[in-house]
Amino acid sequence: MTPNNFSKRGGGWLSPLIHLSNNWISLVGVVLVTTSTVFWLFLLPITMKGDAANPYIGILAYLTIPGPFFGGLFLVPLGMWLKRRREGRTNIYPPEFPTLTWANPELRKLTYFIGITTVINIVIGSQVGYSAVNYMDSVTFCGQTCHTVMEPEFTAYQSSPHSRVECVKCHIGPGAGWFVQSKLSGARQLLAVAFNTSPRPIPTPVHNLRPARDTCESCHWPQKYGEDRLRVVNKFADDEANSHTKTVLLMKIGGGNHGIGIHGTHLGPGVTIRYAATDEQRQNIPWVEYNGPGRQTLYATAEAKPNGGGAPIREMDCMDCHNRPSHSYDLPDRGMDKAMAAGLISNTLPFAKKQAVEILKGTYLSRDEAARKIPAAFTKYYQDTYPAIYAQRQAEITASAKQVLAVWNRNIFPEMKVTWGAYPINIGHTDYPGCYRCHDGGHTAKDGKTISQDCNACHNLLAMDEVAPKILTDLGIIESKAK
Ligand code: HEC
Ligand code: HEC
Ligand code: HEC
Ligand code: HEC
Ligand code: HEC
Repeated sequence: MTPNNFSKRGGGWLSPLIHLSNNWISLVGVVLVTTSTVFWLFLLPITMKGDAANPYIGILAYLTIPGPFFGGLFLVPLGMWLKRRREGRTNIYPPEFPTLTWANPELRKLTYFIGITTVINIVIGSQVGYSAVNYMDSVTFCGQTCHTVMEPEFTAYQSSPHSRVECVKCHIGPGAGWFVQSKLSGARQLLAVAFNTSPRPIPTPVHNLRPARDTCESCHWPQKYGEDRLRVVNKFADDEANSHTKTVLLMKIGGGNHGIGIHGTHLGPGVTIRYAATDEQRQNIPWVEYNGPGRQTLYATAEAKPNGGGAPIREMDCMDCHNRPSHSYDLPDRGMDKAMAAGLISNTLPFAKKQAVEILKGTYLSRDEAARKIPAAFTKYYQDTYPAIYAQRQAEITASAKQVLAVWNRNIFPEMKVTWGAYPINIGHTDYPGCYRCHDGGHTAKDGKTISQDCNACHNLLAMDEVAPKILTDLGIIESKAK
């Protein structure tokens, strides 16, 4: 073979390459390269659109596809080099190659191979690509693929006001930058799940969560949510009658076009509040800095160190109050109040509230154990203490007993070590410190001013623990079902 021959035949240098590439390592490489190229082409139009709705495409387009693509690119020459070495050593490497015409069997074989894999890829890609992306975006993927790990969040989510908002809408949000970041941490979490090293319970707060104002405000624009809002809290006492009382609060929500209120004071135009917490869950906040139009005020408790004392300083956003918009877990007392107010658990069975709360606070190491012991304990109480009532109202007692178990099931996840109080709620101040992390009257400025603990700063207390608050009859709000 002379160089002359090569140029005359056109592609003569290609013949040895085609011969060499006919080995299984290179062919696997070819499959990988064509598959990832075809999938990438299918995703191209969606990624070009800015990918607003589908952050998970990012995993495919930017994290999953390059792996097989470059892996394939590497395998092709590797296979050729190995084949050349093998054939050189055993002296079967052909001294000459047939011309590159259709008669060349190696060329035909390679062409058919690439042609067929591409067709198969297009068929599969067009069917799978779109639905795979839709699937990964779905609540099922987030909540159920890692079933045990996400079970607490998924369960709480289903009965939350956001049960129709996809997980990715809050956890990733629109735009390119954050999905790469959250995908990298997602990949880390997948590994943790795979090797069973993920911490239980999953720690909160989520450190690389996108700033809330990017995600929440894509649905809740400030102009919209600021009107005062009536809040009725139902309570059942520990007495024999499970006495039902109501607290009525008018929440001064504010913000946007609706006055300053709660939202306006912390997040209004020109306002930033920064704080330092001394614990992981941000429950202990000794140092707060208010920056508002025209003034800066530092508030500190007696134990605070200057500038937060080196603790990480965080700028307040929606999540610092709304930390459980979608995964909220109740304490036993509140769980029971809600179930009784909804009429799920009878409030006419003597001491039902007190008994149930005591039973709920017991230790049950698994769902099975709880299912065996909780309803049985509730029923047994009436069998032993109120046999006459038990004889008359057995069906009602059994149904209520099941609902006591349901309260436990909604809030406790033994496999994930989620127990009562594992995830504090930052709105309010009765079950957890919440607003009182700062508004406890102990955060003082140089001039003696404190962050307000005035009972009417955040809400008007229209009624507190009343049996039939006049305000509710005046407004024509009908008594709840449980009455
Ligand atoms: C309305 C917005 C929203 C939606 C929808 C949402 N989350 Fe969350 N999620 C949050 C916030 C806020 C936090 C707490 C962040 C913090 O405290 O830093 C959180 C925390 C978490 C955590 C960390 C553990 C914890 O409870 O703090 C996991 C895991 C989680 N979410 C999974 C999910 C899954 C799975 C879905 C869908 C089934 C989902 N989230 C839907 C807003 C949301
Ligand atoms: C994809 C849209 C969407 C996103 C993103 C979203 N929400 Fe919502 N949110 C809703 C809808 C819809 C409702 C109303 C549900 C209803 O009325 O039942 C709601 C209701 C609420 C409520 C009122 C709950 C109640 O008790 O009535 C709060 C508070 C709230 N969202 C906070 C947040 C916060 C904080 C974030 C960011 C972490 C967020 N939302 C992100 C759509 C969204
Ligand atoms: C200082 C704490 C705090 C911050 C920060 C905060 N909120 Fe709120 N938000 C509240 C309280 C308190 C309520 C009233 C809850 C209730 O009704 O019980 C509320 C109510 C709401 C509601 C329901 C309003 C209605 O009319 O039903 C929405 C929506 C909401 N917030 C969204 C947001 C968004 C979005 C952000 C971030 C831009 C945010 N909040 C920041 C404390 C806060
Ligand atoms: C990280 C600390 C912090 C937390 C947590 C916090 N606040 Fe505040 N709050 C402040 C600061 C700082 C001010 C402004 C003080 C000033 O004007 O100098 C303020 C002011 C207010 C005001 C205006 C009070 C007045 O007298 O004008 C209201 C209302 C309010 N907060 C409601 C809430 C509610 C409701 C919550 C809980 C959902 C909450 N805050 C949680 C720091 C906090
Ligand atoms: C910094 C704001 C703030 C201050 C100050 C404040 N509250 Fe509240 N309060 C709240 C919020 C927020 C909630 C929760 C509303 C909800 O359930 O969403 C709440 C809830 C309540 C409830 C209902 C409790 C329950 O079990 O759900 C009562 C009662 C109450 N407050 C009384 C008071 C009294 C009395 C004071 C004065 C000592 C006071 N609050 C001061 C913000 C405040």
